[in-house]
Amino acid sequence: MAANRTFTMLKPDAVRAGNIGNILQMINAAGYRIVAMKLTQLSLEKAGEFYEVHKERPFYGELCAFMSSGPIVAAILEKDNAVEDFRTLIGATNPANAAPGTIRAKYATSMGENAVHGSDSDENAAIEGAFHFAGVELF
Ligand code: RTP
Ligand code: MG
Repeated sequence: MAANRTFTMLKPDAVRAGNIGNILQMINAAGYRIVAMKLTQLSLEKAGEFYEVHKERPFYGELCAFMSSGPIVAAILEKDNAVEDFRTLIGATNPANAAPGTIRAKYATSMGENAVHGSDSDENAAIEGAFHFAGVELF
């Protein structure tokens, strides 16, 4: 059975709070193989490109400012049903609605500062992974 891939970012709030290790432990425990990973920081311009789909939304400026406010951990993760299972693992966008035990329930503090990103489709996972990583950085 072919495994598939998703893309994640541990957002600046999670990195600032010292939660990289805790979140990676949950990702490992859920059975994901790490295909690519790095600590990096988005410029305001690159954050704007990454979230371009939201550019007409009222929270776009705030989102881009936050996502470029400090280092993130970007990663490509592999497992069966990667995209859907990862969305279940991270929980709802608003941590107030995130199921108990999910990454956002544990580590997100608000709708904006919600600890982690997860791709919403196989197609976007491939686009987002290529946005952050060159082919030689995938293992
Ligand atoms: P993500 O893309 O980061 O994994 O989050 P998501 O799919 O759960 O949510 P999405 O609708 O794609 O929104 C992207 C990010 O924008 C911020 N947001 N703020 N204030 C608001 O109403 C609002 N809505 C969305 C969140 O940080 C969300 O993760
Ligand atoms: Mg999204």
